[in-house]
Amino acid sequence: MPALEMIGITKRFGALVANRNVHFRVERGTIHALVGENGAGKSTLMNVLYGLYEPDEGEIRIGGNRVERLSPARAVELGLGMVHQHFMLIPTFTVLENIVLGIEETRGGMLDLDSPRKRLLELVGTYHLEVDPDALAGELSVGMRQRVEILKVLMRGAEVLLLDEPTAVLTPQEVEELFKIVRLLKSQGKTIVFISHKLREVKAISDRLTVMRGGEVVATDETASVSESDIAERMVGRRVLLDVKKQPARPGDVCLEVRDLCLIGGGAKMVLDHVDLQVRAGEILGLAGVVGNGQTELVHVLAGFLSPSQGSVWLDGRDLLGMSVLERYAAGLAHIPEDRHRHGMVVDLTARDNAVLGKQRAEPFSHWGVLDEDAIRQEARARITQFDVRPPRPEVRAGDMSGGNQQKLVISREVAREPRFLIAAMPTRGVDIGAIEFIHRHLIELRDRGVAILVVSAELSEVLGLADRIAVMYEGRVMDVMDAASATEQRLGLLMAGVRSQPEAIAP
Ligand SMILES: Nc1ncnc2c1ncn2[C@@H]1O[C@H](COP(=O)(O)OP(=O)(O)OP(=O)(O)O)[C@@H](O)[C@H]1O
Ligand SMILES: [Mg+2]
Repeated sequence: MPALEMIGITKRFGALVANRNVHFRVERGTIHALVGENGAGKSTLMNVLYGLYEPDEGEIRIGGNRVERLSPARAVELGLGMVHQHFMLIPTFTVLENIVLGIEETRGGMLDLDSPRKRLLELVGTYHLEVDPDALAGELSVGMRQRVEILKVLMRGAEVLLLDEPTAVLTPQEVEELFKIVRLLKSQGKTIVFISHKLREVKAISDRLTVMRGGEVVATDETASVSESDIAERMVGRRVLLDVKKQPARPGDVCLEVRDLCLIGGGAKMVLDHVDLQVRAGEILGLAGVVGNGQTELVHVLAGFLSPSQGSVWLDGRDLLGMSVLERYAAGLAHIPEDRHRHGMVVDLTARDNAVLGKQRAEPFSHWGVLDEDAIRQEARARITQFDVRPPRPEVRAGDMSGGNQQKLVISREVAREPRFLIAAMPTRGVDIGAIEFIHRHLIELRDRGVAILVVSAELSEVLGLADRIAVMYEGRVMDVMDAASATEQRLGLLMAGVRSQPEAIAP
């Protein structure tokens, strides 16, 4: 018995057909993966299902019944819950307040937070989704915000969970945690639609999978019957290189030097604890670690969003900490941020404006304070072409582009600065495998042209594939720095857990 069925769904945005005659059927109590390139139409399909978009054609059945005029409120009544690709929490509200938003209960005319708090803590217990109900959402790591979104959906009693790239920002450990939760939900008869670009995950968790390409469904299969490279080929329409190919680095002088950097956070916690790091021109330093161990803060100090409590940072021998954000860019820094919506782009502006964001006041995009629209449009076209951003139209609103395409636009803009030092924080977050291959090749090319690169990634395979040297962070400290050649997933995993030396071999 299908939990849901979408029959002949077509959804257009103006001339663009985001979903074309899509048939999508999910059996009750199964985990069904939905995969496809950036812009293939996955999020759109889920948004149609959730009643956010009205389809131009087609029919939706939930629990066997045809539903008309679906709205998100109606979808929730019908037992659907959605965790969006870009989180929707209100940063100034607490976790609990975010969770009750829209299902507030009152007692004697007052907002009642006691009974929701009780139910929330029950859910936290059942699913081992540790969160602090009183933490401010805006201060949570992305991994934590992810949990809150799932709890929010569970609080509404969802039977069918639509998870749009829930693992894009999680560490391998967090992914394992999430999978435990997802399997637990399945064992309770719930149905899960799981969108991901990570084929290893798709293979590990899903019962069936549907591949979309160009707005259409290419195939639906039992997951066990297809290999990772089969899936990749169906998604992209060609064979894809799943490994990074590169020559050994030829590092030059030290480009970025971090000395004795400390950052004291709330409760006198050492968020950064005497960090020393060097990145040479022409090398990629990978920064590995479980999310929340200071990597984000380190990047934010380098980028100029946070001031450290002590220490110094030198870029080509110049004191970086004394510079404003714009001065840092002028000095040769570029930054692909971990949270593209917060620090990488303005979703309400066009792709064109985002393609020059932060550079618009300088030559060649302004002359004597006047924007040069032609130069900006030309630059946007170049950026779009270079990274195959879709749709290839400078005038499209950035927020209307698919997540992966937004990411490509941000990367393209940052790389075009021709930096001396590039920070790439989760550079392939939400990007499809074809584009990952492209981005990785591009980063290696930049390295070979002498750029110093810091890659921060929760994806161990990405760090191992890209980096020439790897630094592991744990609780604000750099645990160790090693040549990538001598790093293994196991060694990194131990360091990421705070274990410095190999434990004694355990006797059989
Ligand atoms: N609100 C909108 N207005 C205009 N175009 C849109 C809108 N939402 C999506 N699109 C377009 O529809 C197409 C499908 O986008 P969608 O977000 O569904 O892709 P996706 O498969 O989720 O991709 P990704 O893996 O990058 O998240 C894209 O070309 C996108 O630009
Ligand atoms: Mg999407």
